[in-house]
Amino acid sequence: MGEAMLAAVLRKRLSTPQGIIVSDISDARRQYLAQKYGVSVTGENRTAASGADIIILAVKPQTLADAMAELKSTLKPKQLLLSIIAGAKIKTLRSGLRHRRIIRAMPNTPARIGEGITVWTATPQVMERHKKQAQSILAAMGHEIYTCDETHLDMATAVSGSGPAYFFYFVEALSAAATKLGFTPEVSQHLVLQTMSGATRLLQQSEKTPAELRRMVTSPGGTTAAAIQRLEEGKLAELVNKAVKAAYNRARELGK
Ligand SMILES: NC(=O)c1ccc[n+]([C@@H]2O[C@H](COP(=O)([O-])OP(=O)(O)OC[C@H]3O[C@@H](n4cnc5c(N)ncnc54)[C@H](OP(=O)(O)O)[C@@H]3O)[C@@H](O)[C@H]2O)c1
Repeated sequence: MGEAMLAAVLRKRLSTPQGIIVSDISDARRQYLAQKYGVSVTGENRTAASGADIIILAVKPQTLADAMAELKSTLKPKQLLLSIIAGAKIKTLRSGLRHRRIIRAMPNTPARIGEGITVWTATPQVMERHKKQAQSILAAMGHEIYTCDETHLDMATAVSGSGPAYFFYFVEALSAAATKLGFTPEVSQHLVLQTMSGATRLLQQSEKTPAELRRMVTSPGGTTAAAIQRLEEGKLAELVNKAVKAAYNRARELGK
């Protein structure tokens, strides 16, 4: 995800490669990032953070404590800290880093192709200039939605943050079903992907609701009705609700 942000910032020319220092503990990743993007690299988080105006924290939740321990004596009050770490609350970041200017954001993986969506919030201490810059960085990855309510971040984690994987899973299941009917895996994948992107565009361009569009293709006693009946018997909507709730609870657990 950190690489997706880096690529977006450079693609939209929000910074030059010379304006960015990436810190990563992996030597192989450092070499790859330096070569691919022309940015400076370091294995020392303090080196990357010390002269920066904006610091983006993109480590896994499990390594947050280590990263905060390293950074806390380095941060200056004027710097902006932008975290994309799932579940990491502003309160945790503020006390762990002894820092007040913080933006917490929840992007998703389509950010890699500029088609992501990010929900974000900021502490009252964040300067207007920094808010605008953060908004530009997040918009470089796709859509962005600002909220003044931090609880929306864990909610967004469960819906849009983890959401791409739900669709990938459905694509896997539908492709496998198509292959079982007798299509080759390649044709199955092609049929499913184009159906998904066509359905998405139709939804976006139509003034009708998803339920209305579904009913339009579901004639009584027809083929779609037979399939939908099975999905309803299997309580798909209830299952999706349970899945989203589980992701939401996990995001809250990670924040404890
Ligand atoms: N993936 C998503 O869809 C998504 C969406 C929204 C938010 N997020 C959040 O984004 C964060 C990153 O997720 P990810 O999937 O991109 O994970 P990732 O691929 O593992 O990226 C984390 C990177 O940080 C490096 N790292 C680990 N410890 C470090 C340390 N102490 N100092 C400096 N660098 C360190 C890792 O190096 P190594 O590979 O060598 O360990 C890795 O390159 C997570 O907190 C996640 O919650 C992810």
